[in-house]
Amino acid sequence: MCFEIKNKVALISGGASGIGLNYAKVLLRNELRAVTLADISDECGTTALKEIENEFGPNRAIFVKTDVTNLNNYEEAFKKTIEIYKNLDIVINNAGILNDALWEKEIAINVNGIVHGVLLGLENYIPKYKSGSEGVIVNISSIAGLKENSVVPIYSATKFAVIGMSKAFGDKAHHNRTKVKVLTLCPGITETPMITEVSGRNLGGPYQALLELAQGHFVMQKPESVALAMVQIIKNAKSGTVWVAEGGQKPYEYVLPPRQSFAPK
Ligand SMILES: NC(=O)c1ccc[n+]([C@@H]2O[C@H](COP(=O)([O-])OP(=O)(O)OC[C@H]3O[C@@H](n4cnc5c(N)ncnc54)[C@H](O)[C@@H]3O)[C@@H](O)[C@H]2O)c1
Repeated sequence: MCFEIKNKVALISGGASGIGLNYAKVLLRNELRAVTLADISDECGTTALKEIENEFGPNRAIFVKTDVTNLNNYEEAFKKTIEIYKNLDIVINNAGILNDALWEKEIAINVNGIVHGVLLGLENYIPKYKSGSEGVIVNISSIAGLKENSVVPIYSATKFAVIGMSKAFGDKAHHNRTKVKVLTLCPGITETPMITEVSGRNLGGPYQALLELAQGHFVMQKPESVALAMVQIIKNAKSGTVWVAEGGQKPYEYVLPPRQSFAPK
């Protein structure tokens, strides 16, 4: 059954810039009623709200300064959404950093932040406040969560973790109980500050050397094309599935083969 975006309410972590802001805009273009941008950056939040108001008019978005690494702080964004818009149907756990030089912070944002968003969305706010029969959570991984990335092994580990938890939370046992589908989207290399300012955000020495070798071969896509992929999977994907959006192409599903298929016969 197709999930209807029209008249729904979304919350997007890291939604004040980069790909996250593009998710907000594309959902509004698809008649989303309203969106909460839950982001740590006040500056990006102010600019993002202006951009949204210019394109979509007033009362379609709020910014809540949020640090996803802190459960109570992230919950404030959920509470504010309900206070203002009364409903919550879609959560996109998108906030993330790529910086192996600050790997404890990277794990806290990329893994704990998503755990917090899933616990709040799946076990509490979406089942209570969804306006239709089903809700959606999309967790953002990366192609570095599907194939190990030797330049940034710890970032890669965080993105593998996102896929594991999303598949487990997306299992039909949880979907039957909560009526919330949990999906994973893995963007390929996308033109945002995360990539354009990537130099030095690694463990140094041999890792920086590997980055310099790789940099000439980046095939970048625009954030807008990842956002279009997001709309397609929110509408059509089944809970527990994993999708890739790379090279500006339409999204494709990534299916992990069962380990038994490798076992000796
Ligand atoms: N750009 C890429 O090539 C690419 C590829 C694959 C996956 N991704 C993933 O997509 C997501 C978005 O990346 P992007 O390229 O738009 O990055 P970005 O740096 O442009 O945006 C990230 C946003 O997250 C916010 N943020 C950072 N820490 C936060 C925190 N603790 N709490 C709340 N918000 C916080 C930032 O303020 C920023 O607005 C990330 O999870 C990233 O890992 C990006």
